[in-house]
Amino acid sequence: MASHVASLRGWHTALARAEIASLLPEATLKRLPARRLVQLEGELSAERMLEAVSCSSGCQALLSHAVLWSRDDGIDSLLEQMGAYIQAHVRTGSVAVRSWKHEGKMEGISARDLMRKIGGMLSEQGYQIDLEQPAHRLGMVLDATAGIVACGWMIGTGDDSDGISARRATDRPFFKPVSLDPRLARLAVNLASGPRYKGATLDLMTGTGGFVLEAAVSGREAYGIDLDSEMIEGAQRNLDWAEQASNASLLLGDATRLAEVLPKDALHRISGFVLDPPYGRNSQGTLEPTALIRAVLESSHSVAASDAHFVLIVPIHPFGEHAEEALPEDASVELLHGQWDELQACFEQTGWRLLGRWVEHVHASLGRLILHATIVPQD
Ligand SMILES: C[S@@+](CC[C@H](N)C(=O)[O-])C[C@H]1O[C@@H](n2cnc3c(N)ncnc32)[C@H](O)[C@@H]1O
Repeated sequence: MASHVASLRGWHTALARAEIASLLPEATLKRLPARRLVQLEGELSAERMLEAVSCSSGCQALLSHAVLWSRDDGIDSLLEQMGAYIQAHVRTGSVAVRSWKHEGKMEGISARDLMRKIGGMLSEQGYQIDLEQPAHRLGMVLDATAGIVACGWMIGTGDDSDGISARRATDRPFFKPVSLDPRLARLAVNLASGPRYKGATLDLMTGTGGFVLEAAVSGREAYGIDLDSEMIEGAQRNLDWAEQASNASLLLGDATRLAEVLPKDALHRISGFVLDPPYGRNSQGTLEPTALIRAVLESSHSVAASDAHFVLIVPIHPFGEHAEEALPEDASVELLHGQWDELQACFEQTGWRLLGRWVEHVHASLGRLILHATIVPQD
């Protein structure tokens, strides 16, 4: 069975693994001793992998049919394996070798020396080396902590093609302190929406447009709703600024009454729901935070596609750094508003099944809980 390697960004590796699993549902993920490397097994087309890596927030690069070498095997074995790899996986056009270090410098191994030797092998095979604009890049990731090197033809350029990591919410014309970090917004959209061939994405309480913008930039049919006309106008300015106005629809309305707000042709076609509700009392002032979330979950269920997923982000009391693993089922978290048990019950009682929970450290007095759920078909 084909086996590829994903190299993850260091920010939140547990969420990055969940994101890549969602973008490539046909892959089986296998953990490696290196926290930022994960193996993807299965028959994945280069086209599907390219789509996933170019819209992912947490995946830095995908290495096709990668060689995985462990320091215990000795450096000669890596060069031997790479020689065989280059012969087995032929490419047409110019090439270059790129390398990254994870977790610092790998003792006793020179990345520069390895790149030179692998570059030499490529030249011997008749490849033209083009460091500026190669048609293909051979990627090499050296993970110092695990003593692992992963090496293979890269899918995509390995650059941050959508510019997610460089983009800041403060760069947009309409910014509020509630604006989500684009990196988290994109990850949540991918987690909820999965591959692009699935249905539309709905940002239920769009505010400054954090999710809807990422959904549109990543090529999805995108809708954003807000009760507040100032937010809708501001989110529209952000979409115009990002040249995404024609790819997204913003709607003034109540996320607890979706059937009345969404256009008829969007009903039962929304497969990715993303929700970042207001802190404290909502702007209607009528519903407590948990009751508002329950009403939105219920309303979402009524307009959802049969394969829909839901991602909710809520503030919690500080939990500390916990970026390597999802939360265990029995771990208790303290919500800033309401009780965890009640929130959990809201999902179950409105036809959603929780798949995973993660926490993100924000600062000394605030954390975020990220919840991922799938729809449970009703009889
Ligand atoms: C925390 S903000 C969302 C921030 C957003 N993620 C961003 O990146 O800017 C919550 C938003 O929910 C909106 N809101 C509150 N109750 C709502 C409801 N019932 N339906 C739709 N929007 C609602 C508020 O007007 C506010 O803009």
